[in-house]
Amino acid sequence: MLPLKEVIVLLSIIYGITSVSLKNEEARNNTQRNLRRFPPNFLFGVATSSYQIEGAWNEGGKGWSMWDHLMRTDPDHMADGKTGDIAANSYHLYKRDIEMMKELGVKIYRFSISWPRILPFGRPDYVNPEGVAYYNNLINELLANDITPFVTIYHWELPQNLNEQGGWLTENIVDWLGDYARVLFQNFGDRVKHWLTINEPYIHCNNGYGRGNHPPRIQSPGIAFYECGRNILLAHARAYHIYKEEFAFQGGQIAIVISSDMGMPSDDSESSAEAVEDYRAFYVGQYMDPIFSANGNYPQRLIDRVANASASQGLSQSRLRPFTQEQIDYIRGTSDFLALNHYTSKYVYRNSSIIGTFQVPSHQDDAFVGTYVDPSWTQGGTWLFTYAPGLYKLLVHLKERYNNPTIYVTENGFGDWATGLIDENRVAYLRGYTNAVLDAIDAGVDIRGYCSWSLMDNFEWAAGFTLRFGLYEVDFEDPNRTRRPRKAALVYKEIIRSRVIDPNYNPDPYLEDSNSSAIVVKTSALFILVSAIIHKLL
Ligand SMILES: *[C@@H]1O[C@H](CO)[C@@H](O)[C@H](O)[C@H]1NC(C)=O
Ligand SMILES: *[C@@H]1O[C@H](CO)[C@@H](O)[C@H](O)[C@H]1NC(C)=O
Ligand SMILES: *[C@@H]1O[C@H](CO)[C@@H](O)[C@H](O)[C@H]1NC(C)=O
Ligand SMILES: *[C@@H]1O[C@H](CO)[C@@H](O)[C@H](O)[C@H]1NC(C)=O
Repeated sequence: MLPLKEVIVLLSIIYGITSVSLKNEEARNNTQRNLRRFPPNFLFGVATSSYQIEGAWNEGGKGWSMWDHLMRTDPDHMADGKTGDIAANSYHLYKRDIEMMKELGVKIYRFSISWPRILPFGRPDYVNPEGVAYYNNLINELLANDITPFVTIYHWELPQNLNEQGGWLTENIVDWLGDYARVLFQNFGDRVKHWLTINEPYIHCNNGYGRGNHPPRIQSPGIAFYECGRNILLAHARAYHIYKEEFAFQGGQIAIVISSDMGMPSDDSESSAEAVEDYRAFYVGQYMDPIFSANGNYPQRLIDRVANASASQGLSQSRLRPFTQEQIDYIRGTSDFLALNHYTSKYVYRNSSIIGTFQVPSHQDDAFVGTYVDPSWTQGGTWLFTYAPGLYKLLVHLKERYNNPTIYVTENGFGDWATGLIDENRVAYLRGYTNAVLDAIDAGVDIRGYCSWSLMDNFEWAAGFTLRFGLYEVDFEDPNRTRRPRKAALVYKEIIRSRVIDPNYNPDPYLEDSNSSAIVVKTSALFILVSAIIHKLL
């Protein structure tokens, strides 16, 4: 005989749970119905980089990068004395990383390949099979989960022996990077259709060769800084041409990743307008104009300002070495889309108060602009201030300046020193900046995707593990590097699911599945009570 009573009890519980959670979802759908919607083909993603998450610094046949070298020779250099030797341990935990992407519902994973993991000695005469196997596993697992890999070829992990042979200060690196890129196209290009050559030329050159707080720790903001940028543009162009000439049959796209803060005039004076033009020429145009402008080459005002300053310093040549016409043509147009990293904005001015404030020579002195932020902007890490309209203004500016390029935001996110799962500042940042993307779409910007930095807390370079950018928190004290979703992860997940930004959605990351679980728990208790009464009656 059927245990009728038990079946009734069970069915009523199931009915209770599903009807309540459906009601809940329906209510949320109703409030979201009138909100602006991301287009169906708009792609959401998350981003990371190899040294910041992989760990396994000396496993699987990997060679030394210049970061590994710095960690062995001067670990105290990092804010917390920590190294990236283990980081988030993604070399071993990549399957968990992909599980997290599934939880979020993202369609893009932007990650980077570690040059010395593939080519331990930097050059392609020895390709490390274990390195190739690791990235094959990662790429195959992503594709099996319907996530598109956007692969950064170079995210600052220069093999140490190439660093010792001149690194980014020698034009030989154009060959070195090209040869390395070819190995990646050969091994992964059958599955990877979105390549990003080099991450953030300005930040890499300023930190490594200007300020000197990253390896190779050269402090030459007025000379080596420009050489680095010049060689990055040439090396990027080499990788682009190799891809187009030898691997066109793979049918993918290739681009460079350029970071840009939004510089805005501090008032409507002539001097502020001039200052903004110079700010943009030095910090963004130096890298974008040679690739994206109609005629190529550096911005004329950058060329003129450095030439003038160099002359007044008694130099016979400009510290900004010019490109030949052949090089200008070689670099121009070498990006299938614009990959933009953006975090923060600044007001820009020029007046007598900045005289004498910059090191000479330096690109800061050459640009000769002052900047400040609005004190009302929420501050994250030292340099990060939240001003979401800045992203909208930047996207519109880039559309106008570079003839409406296709744009992907390849990094945007909020970092600070706070730990724990309730991250209201990150939530506000995420909502504000994704809303700015909607504004840009309305303004006709051809923006196709948005990647949040970062999937999880990671090794934030010279800040060590103190500065956290993760949608997922990582416990760096735990040998398992356990990851837990923060509130911002749940908010991002709901933006991706619903394709709207619902300001009222208020999930609790300490409950397994947000909002609805609390109600479901309460109502299932009610239904158990009701069922118990039915049980008694029968
Ligand atoms: C809520 O909306 C989503 C898609 O926007 C849809 O798949 C789902 O069925 C809706 N749920 C209810 C209960 O209406
Ligand atoms: C460079 O110097 C020349 C001669 O002093 C001056 O006319 C010109 O305006 C200067 N250009 C810039 C961009 O500073
Ligand atoms: C220069 O401009 C800045 C920013 O607007 C302002 O704070 C400062 O007082 C100005 N200094 C002079 C000398 O005008
Ligand atoms: C780490 O993971 C292993 C295997 O899943 C488990 O047995 C162990 O308890 C975990 N350790 C911690 C500290 O969570």
